[in-house]
Amino acid sequence: MSEVKVHPVKAHIAQHALLDEAGYQSMYRQSIEDPDAFWGEQGKQIDWIRPYTKVKNTSYDPGHISIKWFEDGTLNLSANCIDRHLATRADDIAIIWEGDSPEEDKKVTYRELHEQVCRFANVLKAQGVKKGDVVSIYMPMVVEAAVAMLACTRIGAVHSVVFGGFSPDALASRIIDSRAKVVITADEGLRGGRRVALKANVDEALTNPKVDTVEKVIVYRRTGGNIAWHPHRDLWWHEATQAARPDCPPEEMNAEDPLFILYTSGSTGTPKGVLHTTGGYLVYAAMTFKYVFDYHPGDIYWCTADVGWITGHSYLIYGPLANGATTLLFEGVPNYPKTNRMAQIVDKHQVNILYTAPTAIRAFMAKGDEAVEGTSRASLRIMGSVGEPINPEAWEWYYRVIGDERCPIVDTWWQTETGGILITPLPGATDLKPGSATRPFFGVQPALVDGEGQVLQGATDGNLVILDSWPGQMRTVFGDHDRFEQTYFSTFPGTYFTGDGARRDEDGYYWITGRVDDVLNVSGHRMGTAEIESALVAHPKIAEAAVVGVPHEIKGQGIYAYVTLNAGEVPSAELHKEVKDWVRKEIGPIATPDVIHWAEGLPKTRSGKIMRRILRKIATGETDSLGDTSTLADPGVVDRLIEERSRVA
Ligand code: WTA
Repeated sequence: MSEVKVHPVKAHIAQHALLDEAGYQSMYRQSIEDPDAFWGEQGKQIDWIRPYTKVKNTSYDPGHISIKWFEDGTLNLSANCIDRHLATRADDIAIIWEGDSPEEDKKVTYRELHEQVCRFANVLKAQGVKKGDVVSIYMPMVVEAAVAMLACTRIGAVHSVVFGGFSPDALASRIIDSRAKVVITADEGLRGGRRVALKANVDEALTNPKVDTVEKVIVYRRTGGNIAWHPHRDLWWHEATQAARPDCPPEEMNAEDPLFILYTSGSTGTPKGVLHTTGGYLVYAAMTFKYVFDYHPGDIYWCTADVGWITGHSYLIYGPLANGATTLLFEGVPNYPKTNRMAQIVDKHQVNILYTAPTAIRAFMAKGDEAVEGTSRASLRIMGSVGEPINPEAWEWYYRVIGDERCPIVDTWWQTETGGILITPLPGATDLKPGSATRPFFGVQPALVDGEGQVLQGATDGNLVILDSWPGQMRTVFGDHDRFEQTYFSTFPGTYFTGDGARRDEDGYYWITGRVDDVLNVSGHRMGTAEIESALVAHPKIAEAAVVGVPHEIKGQGIYAYVTLNAGEVPSAELHKEVKDWVRKEIGPIATPDVIHWAEGLPKTRSGKIMRRILRKIATGETDSLGDTSTLADPGVVDRLIEERSRVA
C-alpha cells in the first residue's frame, strides 16, 4: 500500500454541520447500546398515523430469520414525502427536472407534486389497483416516474421499478415473478439524444405467455413517437389523469406492510425480488439522507442515479422528499451533449450536494479539464460517491477538479438489500481517507470474519458481515423467504453476510475491496455471472459459457466471457458480434460482454464444477499464479486456454 493521505474535516463545513466528531461518537454509542431507545427517538422524525409502541423485534437466529421495526405503528409514505410539507413549504420546489436536451427543464412545487400524485393515485384506483397489488414501473427519468412511485405508496400498492435499460425478456421475468397487475411506461425514453423504445419493449414482454397478470398498461407520452396501441389494455397517462380527481386520502399502512420490490442480482439463479417495508425503510432513508449529506433546508440536491436502482429510490426520491428537500431529476447522460454537461447542470441549478458514481468520475477524469470547461461549480458544498469502490486517484480527481478542494466527499457503502447507507463518512465529523468508506452509520455493527466465520479483531482483511439489524434492512426475498435465509444468513450464521470483502485499518476505517461472490459490478451495475452465462447458453450455437470479471479502467469491472461453441460451429467475427448482440437483447446493454474468449473447453473438477479461480487468473493474465490445478479433470485445458487467450481480440 502506498501511503494513505488524510483529509481532515474542513473548518468551514464543521462550523455549520449537523454533527461533529463528539456528536457522532455519542449517537453511535447510544445506537448500539440501546437500539430501542435510539430508534424509538429517531422514528419520531417522520409522521405516524398511529404511533408505534414497539421499536425493534428482529432475529438472525438460523431458521428463524425475522425482521420487524416499529411493528404496531401505522403511516403513509407519500403523506410523509408530500402532505406534511404543505403547511410550511407548499410553494418550495420539490423536483427540478432537467431534460436530456439542455433546452428543456421544469420545476415542480410540493403543492403541484401533491396534486399530480393524488390524480395518478386515483387513476390507479380506477383501474382496480388495491392495497397490496403490485405495479411495475418501466419509465424514463421524467417527473412522472416519481409521481407513479409516490402514487403507489399513497394507495398502498407495491411498486416494482424495472430499469428502463433492461430488455423485454428481463422485464417479462420481473413481471412474472412479482405478479404485477399494471405496467406504467412511456412511449419512448430519451437519453443522450437517442430514443429508447419503452412501450415497444413492454408490448414484447407482454407477448410472453407466462405473463398472465397484467390487466392495464398506462403510457406517459414523452416523445410522441410512433407506438402500437392495444385499446383494451393501454391507456394514456394524460387522458386518465385529466379525468381524475385532484385529491386522494393516503391509505393507512402498517409499518411492516410491503412498500416496494426491487430486483437485484445475486451469485446464483435469477434476480431476487428484494422486499422493503414501509416504516423502517422510511425512517432509515430519511435519517441517512439528512446526516450523510449534511442536509440543510434550502439545499439543492442532485443524485445522478436512475430510478431503476436502489439509489434512485432512497436518495433520489424518498430520502430527499421526506426531508422536504429540492431534488434534481436528470433525464439524460452526464456527458451529453458535451463532456461538461454534469458541471453545467450544477451551475445552472446551483446544486449544493452532488451524489454520483465512480464510473462517471473515471470517465470524466479520462477527459481531464474538458469535464469542467466554462463552469465554476461554486455552489457545491458536499459530494458523494456510491455503487462501487472508488480508487484513490479518481477520488482525488473528483475532489480537486469537480469540487475545487472545497467539498468533502462522502464515499457511501450500501446495497439494494440494506435500503440505505451503512458505512460512510459524515461531513462535519469524519476525517477522510480517499478510497475508504470510513465508519458505520448509526445502528450499524460491521464485522470482518474469516472463512470459518470467526470474527476478526483489529486491523485486518475479511468477509464483511453485519452483526445486527437496522431499520432499513430488506425483510425477505419476495415470495421466497427460504432463499432470503439461504442467501444472506447461512454463510456465516447469526450475521447478515454482505457478499463483500473489506479491510479495516488501524483507525477502524473500512475499505471495501469488492464482491467475494460471483457478482460483478460493471459501471456500478450489479450483475450475476450466472445470469450472463444463462443468456449465453440460450444462444443456439453455444454449448457452454463461463463469465468472470476483469479490471476495467472506466467501468471498474469488465465482463470476460469464455464461450464454448457446439461441435461443428466455428468462431468468426460475425459470430462474435452476434453473441454480443444476443446478450444485449437477452438482458440489456449493460450486460454486453467486453471480451469473448472462444474456449475449446473449460477447467472443471472431476465432479464437473467449473473452476472460476483459474478462469479469473487467465483472464487477467496472471498465469504464473494459477495455484493448484491438480484437481482438474483435464489439466491440459489450462494450457489450451492460455494459448487461446493470446488470440482474444
Ligand atoms: C458495491 C448500490 C465500494 C458493493 C447502492 C455492494 C460499493 C454493491 C460501494 C451493491 C462503495 C456499493 N464502495 N463498493 N461506496 N457502494 N458498492 O445493490 O459491492 O446496486 O455489495 O447497491 O455495490 O450494489 P447495489
